[in-house]
Amino acid sequence: MSSGSSLTLDQEVSLTIYALAYGSEGIAKHEGMVVFVPEALPGDTVRVRLTQVKSKFARGEIVELIKPSDKRVQPFCSHASACGGCTWEALEYGEQLEAKRIFVENALVHIGHLKTVTVNPTLKASPQAGYRHKIQIPFQQGSGGVTAGFYAKHTHSVVPVEECPNQPALGNKIFREARALIKQFGYTGYNEISDQGQVRHLVIRLGANTHEALAILVTRERELPRLSEWAAELRQRIPELVGVLQNVNPAKTNVILSSEYRTLFGRAFFFEQLRGLKYRISAESFFQVNPFQMPALAGVVLEAAALTGKETVLDLFCGVGWLTLELARQARWVVGVESVRLAIEDARANAQLNNMNNVEFIAADASAGAAQLRAKGVKPDVVVVDPPRKGCDRSVIDVILRWRPKRIVYVSCNPVTLARDLALMFPRGYALKSAQPVDLFPHTYHVETVACLVRIGEPHVG
Ligand SMILES: C[S@@+](CC[C@H](N)C(=O)[O-])C[C@H]1O[C@@H](n2cnc3c(N)ncnc32)[C@H](O)[C@@H]1O
Repeated sequence: MSSGSSLTLDQEVSLTIYALAYGSEGIAKHEGMVVFVPEALPGDTVRVRLTQVKSKFARGEIVELIKPSDKRVQPFCSHASACGGCTWEALEYGEQLEAKRIFVENALVHIGHLKTVTVNPTLKASPQAGYRHKIQIPFQQGSGGVTAGFYAKHTHSVVPVEECPNQPALGNKIFREARALIKQFGYTGYNEISDQGQVRHLVIRLGANTHEALAILVTRERELPRLSEWAAELRQRIPELVGVLQNVNPAKTNVILSSEYRTLFGRAFFFEQLRGLKYRISAESFFQVNPFQMPALAGVVLEAAALTGKETVLDLFCGVGWLTLELARQARWVVGVESVRLAIEDARANAQLNNMNNVEFIAADASAGAAQLRAKGVKPDVVVVDPPRKGCDRSVIDVILRWRPKRIVYVSCNPVTLARDLALMFPRGYALKSAQPVDLFPHTYHVETVACLVRIGEPHVG
């Protein structure tokens, strides 16, 4: 179908990519029309076939890389061309960092409605490989038997892999041994179309500094023959495994984990250690996938919070409470709120484990927890929020703004929802003091940002 422009579907055009769009497509212009090109990098000259033509933009797939960008590097993963996991491996690392900074800047200008903004250079990750400490590997039933690996780009078909260089060696070893045992025990892989098969995913959680590991086998059915034996054999092969669990997920869904866990061996949690603090993390609880970058992230959050030891702090969306405890080291009292009950149990255990008495945890939805504290007369000086990708509900922002804290520190894994939420705060008496991207996810377009807002004057009424 044609649009107002002269472009038509299936037409081939030559383009030079000038930028990256959030979500890792290259952007080019053809006769004034924006064209998105998956897998193209800034500086590439490409011939594309148009796969979508709309009134305001078009999309095309690369037919020929006419002149590769000088920002291209050789991907270090042998599966890079097929695997949909790390879409930026061919982009030089310094360019990745700058692209992430620009994502945040663009979001704050175009969605956050800021006329001018300075976003700091992205804090680089070290190391840039082997960082992924939560690993989710799909298993499928192919014509030749069970296959396991990662989803091919833009599909749900599995590319079989032997290892992923962005996972630690221990994760790769657990994967290979678990896969060998799944084959040895004769289990079948899941078939998404027929909704048949036994094993759907293997999820691995790792402690970078404790070297403890959990393996979670996600199955469609509850009963698998000799499953306890399978778990014992896996543990025998991997002594670092402190727990082997089953997660039963019978639903026809692409949500990986259900709420039904069974412990097959050991315990249902692992420990991690960071900046002198120890954390218990249950299989169900969120923890950052890149613990190597968590000290840097904590440093940025603490600098933004600017605590003196006298403050009451609220940590909304607190997970197992690692930021809560970091904040509590510098504040008078910190309250963490989190909706996953087990994560709150972890958080309470973590306070005890580290002998910290100036913290309290509430298991509740963020807005209900905040409203509960407000009703009790709690008045935080600083509020930290670290919501999931969809950002904060309007009700959460409303409660925070009614408190008028001196500072709001917004930790975000999605610049789009970050900017949307900050746009609600700017007209109500807050200004952006700093925006610091931190690279937690090298070789992907994902970026973590810490935005610091300070209270300025009175809120606008109406
Ligand atoms: C991005 S994680 C951050 C967790 C923690 N700050 C950390 O860095 O480990 C977001 C957390 O918010 C929790 N969560 C999601 N929706 C929530 C809600 N409506 N209310 C409270 N917590 C929620 C998730 O369970 C998860 O632990």
